Amino acid sequence: MELSVFSGRANPKLAAETASALGVESGGCLLEDFPDGELRVEIEACVRGHDVYLIQPTSPPIAGHLLELLLMADACRRAGASRITAVMPYFGYARQDRRSQGREPVAAQVIAEVLSARLSRVITVDLHTPTIAGFFSIPAEPLTAIPALAEALRPELPADAIIVAPDLGAVKVAQRYADRLDLPVAYLHKVRLSGEEVSVRGVVGEVAGRAPIVVDDMISTGGTMISAIEALVDRNCRPAVTVVATHGLFVGDAAQRFASLPVGKILVTDSVRPAAVARLPLEVIGLAEMLAGAIRSLHEDRSIGHQQRQW
Ligand code: R5P
Repeated sequence: MELSVFSGRANPKLAAETASALGVESGGCLLEDFPDGELRVEIEACVRGHDVYLIQPTSPPIAGHLLELLLMADACRRAGASRITAVMPYFGYARQDRRSQGREPVAAQVIAEVLSARLSRVITVDLHTPTIAGFFSIPAEPLTAIPALAEALRPELPADAIIVAPDLGAVKVAQRYADRLDLPVAYLHKVRLSGEEVSVRGVVGEVAGRAPIVVDDMISTGGTMISAIEALVDRNCRPAVTVVATHGLFVGDAAQRFASLPVGKILVTDSVRPAAVARLPLEVIGLAEMLAGAIRSLHEDRSIGHQQRQW
């Protein structure tokens, strides 16, 4: 079966790098907006009988990128593709994975079900919770960038470093970094006040005099990380904070809010198109090799290495 790679408009650079690592070209796909906001999609290459990979993180604008992915998948299906895999390095709506109050949808499940109707398989990277993989009725391959991010930290690791989980949801993520780097862990008790505002109510672990490495799955408005850093500074950590997250969205004024804090390095991947944050000490780890490795394994019906699994 021939392998074909196509990209939506969410992160064409990552798609091109992934295709290049696979030794193929990212195929032509016409994507344009009609004046009324409707999308027009046309796959320009033959895909009949092909093993197709559609690379599209559903980053903001999430609804548009999601619809683009669905329409690309439908176009490939109707054109006779044998297998269609969505490569979604970032899965939007992942944080709406359960009902926390009454009369709410489980949006992550709705999206997984809609995608399952048009796809054969999905590849994700550091889902907000691994449970989401189970929302798909097709095979899901949840990968993790934590080993790559941890290895990127290793060369400049301060001797007094401590891994910090900025909220209880990040405890497992923090533990994975701590295990790889052989470091202690501290946990913060975060309470979310609104979409942008959070407050830290407590710190478990000794952070005074240590260089914190705050780890999470994502940075959106930056509220979680910023409150964590302020709480750590209040508790006399060393003013040399490292921030690590797989998905660096930096929405709204996140970049400006980080600029006034004692942050020495912000490490993210290119799961979403890297934000224009000129004044921040941002380091971006590329995912193309990892995605290409996973695509190669699946194309050849081989297992994906255990190292890259989210669990
Ligand atoms: C929450 O559970 C997530 O893991 C992140 O901590 C959070 O969603 C990041 O969003 P923000 O940057 O807006 O605080």
